[in-house]
Amino acid sequence: MSGTCDGGTTDPDLPGLLRVACDTCGRLFPPDQSPTRCPCGGLPDLLFPRHTPIERDVYEHRQSSRQLLDRSGVWRYREFLPPLPPAAIVSRPEGNTNLYISASLSSWTGCERLVLKHEGENPTGSFKDRGMTVAISHARAAQARVVACASTGNTSASVAAYAAMAGMLAIVFVPEGKISAAKLGQAIAYGARIVQVRGEFDETMRLLEEASQELGLYVLNSINPFRLAGQKTIVIELLHQLSWEPPDWIVLPGGNLGNTAAFGLAIADLQAAGLLSRRPRLAVIQADGAAPFYRAYRSGFTMFSPEPAETIASAIRIGNPVSYRRARRSIEETDGVVEVVSDEEILEAKARIDRAGIGCEPASAASVAGVRKLVQGGVIESGQMVVAVLTGHLLKDPDTVMAYHLGCGAQARPLSNRPITVAPSLEALRGVLSDVA
Ligand code: F0G
Repeated sequence: MSGTCDGGTTDPDLPGLLRVACDTCGRLFPPDQSPTRCPCGGLPDLLFPRHTPIERDVYEHRQSSRQLLDRSGVWRYREFLPPLPPAAIVSRPEGNTNLYISASLSSWTGCERLVLKHEGENPTGSFKDRGMTVAISHARAAQARVVACASTGNTSASVAAYAAMAGMLAIVFVPEGKISAAKLGQAIAYGARIVQVRGEFDETMRLLEEASQELGLYVLNSINPFRLAGQKTIVIELLHQLSWEPPDWIVLPGGNLGNTAAFGLAIADLQAAGLLSRRPRLAVIQADGAAPFYRAYRSGFTMFSPEPAETIASAIRIGNPVSYRRARRSIEETDGVVEVVSDEEILEAKARIDRAGIGCEPASAASVAGVRKLVQGGVIESGQMVVAVLTGHLLKDPDTVMAYHLGCGAQARPLSNRPITVAPSLEALRGVLSDVA
């Protein structure tokens, strides 16, 4: 059974214990409204009692259960999630994403103990579903009718799918012509109302923030702390898969920086719950044409300025990341690093991940390109255990695949794999497959 859930949590009084407060001035938000930016500029945080310490056996047991909430790789870890009424929960279910080891990628990156966690295996093909199940469930509990987001593509696909399941209208704001056709197609197919904004993602995001109050929209961007709570489970599920033995590094791409914020929260929560003996270090990888976080990091976080963004990895083409301050905290608390890679490095990493049979979209490949660069720079030592997160599915951006492999002349790429066209005759076929027999 998938879909709306009618059972699974144990304490019906828990929702009363949930508070939403500004992370800067402490002002309390009504817990039954769309949590948006505070007038002081701060972002909403969730306050709820954590159950500590937590027995590991609980999760082993839930993994073999047939309950929808136990089968979800998000709700299985509900001690780390805000308490919501079980009847409001909408789940596909999400998570349960696999870990992969690839000899060719270990060799290419120079990292012997490289593990890939493939978040493209979520229901709509990206990690966004993990946050969406929690945020849409809160929207439902808050009796929202219309939900909205600004997106570079994946959030819009996820919002559209979960809103359809919850019986809500979704309005998605996207920068016109700047998101992949596959992601736009998902949002169209799931029935969202799509507003294409003539501008970049950052302007699209600003427009949504301006409009949300006036139009009474429940905002499902990663400003929404319920999204971040769900995304924490990438790290929590990962640690469970590793028998709670922390890797040395967790490497992820950075765009709007919601995931970076969520990973820091997850590491702190796991430690408080007694499930983490030491903190993995975070490494956030940006595309060098969209790298405001990298530049802030290089200044020792003394300066941060939004900038125009341009990269082939459209999912992370963001110049003014909403979760900058929270992400900064994640880097500081985990002794983390921020690195940049070029579009060429992203494309080569992607082609190698695809060729290994694993596959991902361009933004995801930034993490593996980043591992290689950090190993070459001596930041990651070759014997260290590294988990690189692949954030989206290969089919999210087939146009980039075709451009890479079918490009010719100066554009021909080292791993290019061009289809062959033949006349329908055995003789013609022998001619093109002579090297096979
Ligand atoms: N990878 C993929 C595939 C993404 O879609 C995104 C963000 C990121 C990485 C970056 O994650 O924003 O948490 O730092 N996509 C958003 C969207 C912005 O609208 O789909 P982040």
